[in-house]
Amino acid sequence: MPAKLIKGTEIREQILEEITAEVAQIKEKHGVVPGLVTILVGENPASISYVTLKIKTAHRVGFKEVQDNQPETISEDALLNLIDRYNKDDTIHGILVQLPLPKHIDEKKVLNAIDPDKDVDGFHPVNVGRLMIGGDEVKFPPCTPAGIQEMIVRSGVETSGAEVVVVGRSNIVGKPIANMMLQKGPGANATVTVVHTRTRNMDQHCKRADILIVAAGVPGLVKPEWIKPGACVIDVGVNRVGEKISEKTGKKVAILKGDVDFDAAKEIAGWITPVPGGVGPMTITMLMKNTLKSLKFRLGIA
Ligand code: GUN
Repeated sequence: MPAKLIKGTEIREQILEEITAEVAQIKEKHGVVPGLVTILVGENPASISYVTLKIKTAHRVGFKEVQDNQPETISEDALLNLIDRYNKDDTIHGILVQLPLPKHIDEKKVLNAIDPDKDVDGFHPVNVGRLMIGGDEVKFPPCTPAGIQEMIVRSGVETSGAEVVVVGRSNIVGKPIANMMLQKGPGANATVTVVHTRTRNMDQHCKRADILIVAAGVPGLVKPEWIKPGACVIDVGVNRVGEKISEKTGKKVAILKGDVDFDAAKEIAGWITPVPGGVGPMTITMLMKNTLKSLKFRLGIA
């Protein structure tokens, strides 16, 4: 039997509706709404399209949204001063600096300058530490891993005692999702293995997985014979493998392929995420969730 599709586009709608309702309630009771600032440096087309979607989503759920566009030539000091201003602004609960930054700016310095209590991306070392400790310590789980966990839970996949294999060890997906899945608590309590470019017999590890999370950035890396029948397969890969003309708009669009051979894998897996329309839509959704959480922490109602 073909796998059940875990559609990020549908789960996103459920979560955004929940967020919209909660924002309205808080506004009525406390007279405030979550405030999110998105700082975009330069004119990288991919960054512009991500940021545009973030703004649109923030407006949809009733946030105050500040779009702060800065020229490519902004100095590191000026950017650090700008962040400091938003750190002190009580109407702003989430600060997002869109990455990548121009080469003359030290990305690490910039991310470390964001107040950890407004770091809704979850990239600040304080939030990475909080995530590692787990439980009530966690404030802002990074958005893509948080989206993955939410998809697994909302699909009714059992995680407690499950064998989870994570392919990839990046700081923004592989390492945090592995850490989150092994914590005590709902949607976790799993036995976790992380495999990477130096792993021997990657296929043998993957074959053991009840839940296989693939974030390698290599199109079609995971072959159907690596998948345990009935497993839950989460494909985080979004690889541009070519271009085509969109039937809807008549414009050139990228052809996207995941890290898993989807057509073959769906005949073996129990659940699977498509690419596109799987994990992708969850990242911005969880950014909204983190920004709402930030306001709730501030109000003491989280
Ligand atoms: N650039 C691409 N993805 C992201 C993201 O999730 N957060 C930030 N800050 N920049 C990005």
